[in-house]
Amino acid sequence: MPHQYTSATAPGALPLLGHVPAFVRRPYEFVAGLPAHGDLVRLRLGPMDAYVACHPDLVRRMLTEDRTYDKGGLVVDKAREVFGDGLATCPAAAHRRQRRMVQPAFHRDRLPGYAAMMADEIVDVTAPWRDGEVVDVPAAMYRLTTAVTARCLFAAHERAGSLPVHRAMDVVTHGVARRIMMPLPGADRIPTPGNRRYHRARADLAEITRRLVADYRAAGTDHRDLLSMLLAARDEDGSGLTDEEIHDQVITFLLAGMETTAATLSWAWTLLAAHPAVRERLHAELDTVLDGRPARHEDLPALPLTARVVNETLRLYPVSWLLSRVVTGDGTELGGHHVPAGATVLFSPYLLHRRADLFPRPDRFDPDRWLDTARPTLGTYAPFGAGARRCIGDAFGTTEAVLAIATIAARWTLTPTPGRPVRPMRSAAMRPRPFTATLTRRR
Ligand code: HEM
Repeated sequence: MPHQYTSATAPGALPLLGHVPAFVRRPYEFVAGLPAHGDLVRLRLGPMDAYVACHPDLVRRMLTEDRTYDKGGLVVDKAREVFGDGLATCPAAAHRRQRRMVQPAFHRDRLPGYAAMMADEIVDVTAPWRDGEVVDVPAAMYRLTTAVTARCLFAAHERAGSLPVHRAMDVVTHGVARRIMMPLPGADRIPTPGNRRYHRARADLAEITRRLVADYRAAGTDHRDLLSMLLAARDEDGSGLTDEEIHDQVITFLLAGMETTAATLSWAWTLLAAHPAVRERLHAELDTVLDGRPARHEDLPALPLTARVVNETLRLYPVSWLLSRVVTGDGTELGGHHVPAGATVLFSPYLLHRRADLFPRPDRFDPDRWLDTARPTLGTYAPFGAGARRCIGDAFGTTEAVLAIATIAARWTLTPTPGRPVRPMRSAAMRPRPFTATLTRRR
C-alpha cells in the first residue's frame, strides 16, 4: 500500500488574520507543532493560503522538483528585493546557467586556499581577546565571519582592517534581515534614519564592488579568492558574468554566508557551555590535535568531534529555518493533495530536525547521534536545503565553523553570563538574541 499523506488546515485560525497572530507570537513553536495536524498543513495568512510540507517525503519532492516548486513565495519574494537576481533568489529558468558558472568558485579544490585565509582571520579577530574579558558573543562571531567573508571574496583588498567594506556589509546584512520580516510593502522606502543608512551602505557596497571588479579585470591576476573565480567564470558558449551579475552574486554571498555562519557559531558556544561533558571531550580532541595552535585545513580529518558539534548545532538551530517556494503549474499535487498555481509552499528544516520520529529525543544536544547515523536521507536533515538549490557554500560554511570552534576552544572557554537561557530572535534567520560570555584562557 502506498503511503497516504494526510492534509489538514492548522487549527486556531482567527477571522481575517488567520494564523498570523499565532505565528508571529511564537513562530518556532507554532511551526514545530504543525506535523501533529498532517503531512501537508494549510495555513491561512490573512487573505492568502500557504501550505507547509511537514513530511520528509513531501519536502524531498518539492526540493527535487525545482521547476514546479520554484524560488518564490512569502520569504523568497522579500529576499529578492535585496538579493537581486543572484544565485539564491533567481528563478529556476535562470538558475542552471548561474549555478554552472558559480560552482567552480566553491569547488572542493578551492577549499584549502579559502581555509588558509579563514585561519588567518580567525587568529586576527581573536588576538585582542583578554583573559576575564566579557564579550558580546553574537557580535564577536559576526565580526569573525565578516572578516572571513571579506577576505575570501576580496583577498586583494586589505587584510582584516578593511573597515569601509566591513561597515557597509554590516549595515546591509542587518537591514536585509529586518526587511524580510517587514510586513508593509514600500516601508523600506520611507526615509527613516535606518532606511537611509541602509540605502547608503548598499550604494557604498555596490561602489566598492564596482571598483574591485574594475581593478581585478585590469590586473587580470587570480587572487585565489571568490571574486577572481566569478570573473573567470565562463559558460559553455564562452560568455562570462556581466558586472551587474557579479555584483548580485557578491551581495548574495555576503548575505547568505555571514549571518548564517555567525549564528551557527554563537549557538555552538551556548550548547557547549550547557553541556560540559561534551565540552571536555572537545577540549581533549583539540589538545591532542592542535596543542594550542590554530586549526588548519589539514587538521579537519583529525577533528571529528568538532565536526559533529557543528552538525548537531545545525540540527538544533538551523539558521535558515523557514524557506518558501511558489507553485508554478496548475494541476500540481503534493502527496496526493492539490496545491494551486501561485500558492506558497513552505518547508522548515527546524520542523524536520525536531521531529521525534526522525531524531530520537530531538531536543537533546547529542553530537554522538551522528556517529551511527548513516547519512541522513534527503529531506530529513536539511540545514543547507537540498536538490538543485542546495546551499553552494555548505562546505565553505562548515569548514569555517569547524576551524573557528577548534581554534577558539583550543585556547578559550566561553562562559555565558548567568541569566535567562539564550533564545532565538523572531526572525527569518534563527539567530540568538544578544548574550555575553566571559573568556577564560585555557593555556
Ligand atoms: C552555516 C552556514 C550556512 C547555512 C546554514 C546555509 C543555509 C542555506 C540554505 C538552507 C540554503 C537553501 C535555501 C533554499 O532552499 O531556499 C542556502 C542556499 C545558498 N547559500 Fe547557504 N548557508 C550557509 C553558508 C553559506 C555560505 C558561507 C555561502 C557563500 C559564501 C552561502 C551561499 C548560499 C547560496 C549562494 C545559496 C543559493 C544556492 C542556489 O540556489 O543555487 N551559504 N544556504
